[in-house]
Amino acid sequence: MIDMHCHLLPGVDDGPRDWDESLALVRQGAEDGIKAALVTPHLGELNPEYAEVVKEKFSELVGRVREEGIDMRLILGAEVAFDLGLERLKEFGLGTFGGRYFLLELLPLGFVSPRLEEVLFNLHLEGLRPVLAHIERYPGLVDDTKRLEKLVRTGALLQVNAEAFLRKQARTVLKLVRMGLVHIVGSDAHDPLSRPMRMAEAYGVVKEKLGARMAERIFEETPEALLSGEEVDLEPMAKEEGSIFGRIVQRLRGT
Ligand SMILES: [Fe+2]
Repeated sequence: MIDMHCHLLPGVDDGPRDWDESLALVRQGAEDGIKAALVTPHLGELNPEYAEVVKEKFSELVGRVREEGIDMRLILGAEVAFDLGLERLKEFGLGTFGGRYFLLELLPLGFVSPRLEEVLFNLHLEGLRPVLAHIERYPGLVDDTKRLEKLVRTGALLQVNAEAFLRKQARTVLKLVRMGLVHIVGSDAHDPLSRPMRMAEAYGVVKEKLGARMAERIFEETPEALLSGEEVDLEPMAKEEGSIFGRIVQRLRGT
């Protein structure tokens, strides 16, 4: 599995407090079966000094993980706050991965700006491809499959947290996965106890409910493709859950 959203760097955001906690998280993820992780510290403004600190801590993390003999590939990204002059992100040197993708956090949490589509369109013109972080946290968005489909068609990708598959929202997010409206998954780990680096249980739920192919796709294949900077097929797959047409399409596709 590839974890596409986690906070592993100590003392830069609300993630781990020190190196012990940071390494405990990575160890926890490795034991859970996570082979690679996109490290996504919060990025609230395009501040070059903060970016330097983040990069230094990331290289130190890579060194410490290697020294400890933990088998996990780490890639540096960021969880970028909405509305900070995002068009300049490409030159900023922190935040993007695979040359054009970046994890975008809509703020404040739970609120979706009416300007979202306009901002995404402008980013698209700049050659940037945002991945909307933990869409399950935005009630007005996660239930609006029409708007999600439209966002995907304008070039956005969608991420959910692994935990969402284990809670009340499981039904909702499984429906979105089935419709092709979830592209990648992350643990959104912050510390080993309250927000751990775990995804295996969620992988098991997706595999059981939607089949092994789908689990591989959103936990491994699409993440790997994005990290390599490849274009991915974002076309939503099936119509509404429960429609006969949708079910037939799913059968034919083996999902
Ligand atoms: Fe996060």
